[in-house]
Amino acid sequence: MSKITAAITGVGGYVPEYILTNEELSRMVDTSDEWIMSHMGIKERHILKGEGRATSDMAVEAVLDLFKKTGCKPEEVDMLIVASVTPDMPFPSTANIVSDKLGVKNAFGYDINAGCSGFLYSLVTASKFVESGSHKKVVVVGADKMSSIVDYTDRTTCPIFGDGAAAVLLEPSTNGEGIIDSMMRVDGSGRKHLYQLAGGSQLPATMDTVIKRQHYVYQEGQPVFKAAVTNMSDTAVAMMEKHHLKGEDVAWFIPHQANMRIIDACARRMEVTKDKVMINIEKYGNTTAATIPLCMWDYEKKIKKGDKLIIATFGAGFTWGAVYLTWAYDTK
Ligand SMILES: CC(C)(COP(=O)(O)OP(=O)(O)OC[C@H]1O[C@@H](n2cnc3c(N)ncnc32)[C@H](O)[C@@H]1OP(=O)(O)O)[C@@H](O)C(=O)NCCC(=O)NCCS
Repeated sequence: MSKITAAITGVGGYVPEYILTNEELSRMVDTSDEWIMSHMGIKERHILKGEGRATSDMAVEAVLDLFKKTGCKPEEVDMLIVASVTPDMPFPSTANIVSDKLGVKNAFGYDINAGCSGFLYSLVTASKFVESGSHKKVVVVGADKMSSIVDYTDRTTCPIFGDGAAAVLLEPSTNGEGIIDSMMRVDGSGRKHLYQLAGGSQLPATMDTVIKRQHYVYQEGQPVFKAAVTNMSDTAVAMMEKHHLKGEDVAWFIPHQANMRIIDACARRMEVTKDKVMINIEKYGNTTAATIPLCMWDYEKKIKKGDKLIIATFGAGFTWGAVYLTWAYDTK
């Protein structure tokens, strides 16, 4: 019997209607379009407005889009993973809430929190269930409502993040298409540079934590920048070397969308030309777990069956990694 691989067979996505521009941010904090564009490469980001609207609402929209495009029915899904750092609530998991809202009744599901690497961690985890033959229709979602934990008085972090969600369907392939290899890493010594301090078991919410603004993203930009460039490019290059791939063999590079300068530095190290790098940071910012599937959603029509893709990610923790996969379908 031929080996089973896990192939992406569809992509769905959702970004909320409201667009927060650099001009509007410049009226909120001491910054400018010129500074944000030159240091981050971000022009605007989408923000989920409306009381009670949460990460699960965006995840549901993304999976509904996925269902519409693939014809997959909620009852056929046998596994659902939601990657997020902004769950609707500490528990139950957002996967529980999403499964209920969608009528996914024959699956097991859970959340993965790996910072911005959550989607790639989830994709790799899900692929093992498909490769084992135990699961046949697995939905992997990356969804984050970063506006719920961003401090809009802190100019060093508030321009970076946006809200969004996207999802892929993973199914078994016997043609060798799909995920070929992965190299995923964690190094908790990096956690001091990027975190949300309060609201967990170490520092539960109190009046004091709220007054000290400890429920927001805290980031030291420079060490995060350096670690992102080094680790993302090292693993992506190692993956290419392992599989004897040169820059010209890679049809598409999908980098986590954290900062345009990080993306450029990684592509240069990999010797992949800019026309083959998926980039949407300018219009969405960093949507954390959603950046990579949102790239697939935006570029889906341009990706061809058999294309070789390298995906690289980096996130809080630190977490990082690279995946090598071949694309399994053409989009009309
Ligand atoms: C955040 C980041 C863009 C900051 O760029 P930087 O070149 O490192 O800038 P610095 O932090 O050294 O700050 C330089 C100056 O710009 C200022 N500055 C920071 N944000 C600013 C903004 N939005 N507008 C104007 N000035 C700003 C700082 O206050 C500082 O001023 P000072 O010298 O008077 O103190 C950059 O460090 C970065 O992208 N880091 C990685 C972030 C990331 O990818 N996070 C997600 C990881 S998954």
